[in-house]
Amino acid sequence: MIMQNLNMLSSIVFLLVFPILPMVVAYPSTAAPSNLWKISSMQTRVAMSGNPSALVILESVSTSYRLLFGFYTMDGNAFTLSVLLMGAQPPAIWSANPGDPVSQDAMLNFTSDGNMLLSDGDGTVIWSTATKSRSVAGLRLDVSGNLVLFDQKNSSVWQSFHHPTDTLVLGQSLCRGMNISVKPSKTKWPSARIYLSAEFGGLQYSSQPANYSQSFTEVASTKSDCYAFVNGSFGFPNQVFWLPQARSLQYMRLESDGHLRLYEMQGYSSPRLRFDVLSLAMKFCDYPFACGDYGVCSDGQCSCPSLSYFRSNNERHPDAGCTLLTTISCNRAHYHQLLPLGNVSYFSDNMFRKLAISSSSEEVCKQACLIDCACRVAIFQYYGSNHYSNGGNCLLLSEEKLISLAEGSSDGLSAYIKIQGTRSIKKRITAIVCSVIAGLSALGILFSAIIWKMCKKEEEQLFDSIPGTPKRFSFHELKVATSNFSVKLGSGGFGSVFKGKIGRETIAVKRLESVQQGTEEFLAEVMTIGRMHDHNLVRLIGFCAEKSHRLLVYEYLCNGSLDKWIFHACSVFTLSWKTRRNIIISIARGLSYLHEECKEKIAHLDIKPQNILLDDRFIAKLSDFGLSKMINWDQSKIMTRMRGTRGYLAPEWLGSKITEKADIYSFGIVVVEILCGRENLDESLPEESIHLISLLEEKARSGHLLDLVDSGSNDMQCHMEEVMEAMRLAMWCLQVDSSRRPLMSTVAKVLEGVTSLEAAPDYSFVPSFASNGASSAGPTSSYVPSESHLSGPR
Ligand SMILES: *[C@@H]1O[C@H](CO)[C@@H](O)[C@H](O)[C@H]1NC(C)=O
Ligand SMILES: *[C@@H]1O[C@H](CO)[C@@H](O)[C@H](O)[C@H]1NC(C)=O
Ligand SMILES: *[C@@H]1O[C@H](CO)[C@@H](O)[C@H](O)[C@H]1NC(C)=O
Ligand SMILES: *[C@@H]1O[C@H](CO)[C@@H](O)[C@H](O)[C@H]1NC(C)=O
Ligand SMILES: *[C@@H]1O[C@H](CO)[C@@H](O)[C@H](O)[C@H]1NC(C)=O
Ligand SMILES: *[C@@H]1O[C@H](CO)[C@@H](O)[C@H](O)[C@H]1NC(C)=O
Repeated sequence: MIMQNLNMLSSIVFLLVFPILPMVVAYPSTAAPSNLWKISSMQTRVAMSGNPSALVILESVSTSYRLLFGFYTMDGNAFTLSVLLMGAQPPAIWSANPGDPVSQDAMLNFTSDGNMLLSDGDGTVIWSTATKSRSVAGLRLDVSGNLVLFDQKNSSVWQSFHHPTDTLVLGQSLCRGMNISVKPSKTKWPSARIYLSAEFGGLQYSSQPANYSQSFTEVASTKSDCYAFVNGSFGFPNQVFWLPQARSLQYMRLESDGHLRLYEMQGYSSPRLRFDVLSLAMKFCDYPFACGDYGVCSDGQCSCPSLSYFRSNNERHPDAGCTLLTTISCNRAHYHQLLPLGNVSYFSDNMFRKLAISSSSEEVCKQACLIDCACRVAIFQYYGSNHYSNGGNCLLLSEEKLISLAEGSSDGLSAYIKIQGTRSIKKRITAIVCSVIAGLSALGILFSAIIWKMCKKEEEQLFDSIPGTPKRFSFHELKVATSNFSVKLGSGGFGSVFKGKIGRETIAVKRLESVQQGTEEFLAEVMTIGRMHDHNLVRLIGFCAEKSHRLLVYEYLCNGSLDKWIFHACSVFTLSWKTRRNIIISIARGLSYLHEECKEKIAHLDIKPQNILLDDRFIAKLSDFGLSKMINWDQSKIMTRMRGTRGYLAPEWLGSKITEKADIYSFGIVVVEILCGRENLDESLPEESIHLISLLEEKARSGHLLDLVDSGSNDMQCHMEEVMEAMRLAMWCLQVDSSRRPLMSTVAKVLEGVTSLEAAPDYSFVPSFASNGASSAGPTSSYVPSESHLSGPR
């Protein structure tokens, strides 16, 4: 009788709620074996909001909500066998096959011996209750949302409440061995999962594969096995979490961002969010995956570990994680480097200590990461404050575990992130292919022209897809980042450089002055510079072109420019030979990239120690490349306006043909300066020594080159043979006749020991103008033009 009334009532409500249905079919709430439901022969569908619909097997209705059991589909092709709460989003509160949908040809077989089998079209059994021969008398969908297989005595043999998926409904319990789980959305790793499980003494929140776990214990001394979700609390008979009072049916769902949210039904179709259950115990940054893969969480904010080596997956949603600009390749493991990350830990410090293993020193920990290709981050902390004595904690993390880097909260933590220290392989391949094709141009200009065009096109497309092209900043953003341009790193003819901070990243902002270029020209040049990605070039992070403001944002290199380290008249610190040699190699590689490896060849035209910056490991990076006008290689090799800096200009500046060979000459000067520890033009010295290169010429002819080597460095004196070799290489670069200078790639190869050095053909580094009838005002002033607007620091 009551049942009948209920059905009538619900029928009326259905008519109100689902007016599109021509006829309301009342479904049973129980079913008996043996029975068979084939998706293809189930005709009536219940439409859900939007496209989804359900093929109903059982139904259970209360005064304020409606439950269905059946096949649920979003698109009509993939089906899950689910218990559905009408109105909930998504409606499934339980599924037999979550994440493993079946096709239209699937069926549910409720066998005569009491088993329930879900099999797909090809006959494979996707799921079963394994209740064969357990005297099952029927199947029932309770009004609580529980799907029950019961026996003759009406007691439960199997129930869906014992096999929860991601949702718990009011009245349901989580008992030991049971858990709800979800696949997190903010990671690219398919195997990642978040769990809320019942353990002895409390509930545990955990994630895989990050080995993260956090326990929530009962507010009681008696330990229980089951934690019930009841009106007002979760954890009954004790309480683990407080919950708001229920006004109608509630359900809790573990959602893909890791939050456990409590919803409450309001009438038939609208649930309302009542509470974020873990919010009292967990802050934003405590959730694994809060900032996605590689994201660093700090004070509820997400950022990437470094702007130079990472890009945000979604600029507008910083919590979507970050991607390495250059993916780590195990085939190129010799280029792997560890970038120090300031103040970064893994989850909480407790979590770090729990997962870390002991290691004798920071260096051992870093090495362990470098030799293991799968390692992406090494985090180290010395035991106690007495460093070095008895080692510390070392944690090595693979990429799939990098889901919760967080701002560190204790001293002495140092984190290192692995980066691929090389240029993009794809770009190199394109460059090689294009140069090979260019070499075949003898076959016909037309032919090669067509191919070249294709190459060019391909490369442009490639560039389009390269992440991390310079970001456009507003002037206001940069003003804030540099605290109103308050910390000046240097200044020169081209503009001043200021230190700043964006997120966690320290940056150097170059404020260009006297740029006459229009915005479009400026953007074009910025894009060109932004495409230059090389370990030996300072990385352009972004720019600003707003009204008359023209600014460039570069990565910040903590050791400043080379001049500070090599012109050390009274400095106590001198660079070792090994460091100087590495600096020379880095400069050569950087130039070789600019000259020979990128399509849009760039002659730097202002190579000098002030434009060579050093990172924390004294790796040199060229800055200011591309700021001189690019040479149009197809049309002419002639440039008219003079650029560069007095003291570093190649002799051909006096003539008219300026090519990248001018950089090679300037490089030669810088090398000699590095080896000799003094500036090329040092007017504080006696007149005959003012000009280092003239002195070099003289000493080379008289065979007294050793006199020139930096006398302030014992280490240099100990490596005289190699130093002399470098000096000869520099002299090769200093040939007055630009065609006799080596290619930068050759120079790099010689320095790396791959090729050997040809003897410098000529000890003439300063042109003689007497023969041309030029004035002979002395070598320094005769070929040294005045400083141009291009020269500047950095
Ligand atoms: C359902 O299962 C029973 C028992 O395993 C089996 O005999 C029967 O053939 C199945 N029905 C279909 C249509 O596959
Ligand atoms: C079987 O048990 C359920 C729940 O305990 C109850 O709702 C139902 O009325 C019972 N059925 C019979 C026939 O006793
Ligand atoms: C969650 O439950 C599943 C199925 O019972 C089990 O295989 C898995 O180990 C459990 N995971 C956790 C973290 O409790
Ligand atoms: C992390 O979890 C995996 C799989 O559960 C296990 O094999 C591994 O030993 C755990 N690592 C740590 C450090 O607990
Ligand atoms: C939950 O408890 C409160 C207060 O005891 C009561 O007013 C409310 O009706 C209860 N809700 C349900 C769904 O039983
Ligand atoms: C690291 O970050 C924490 C949390 O923001 C802060 O309290 C601490 O002072 C920072 N430490 C350093 C060395 O910056």
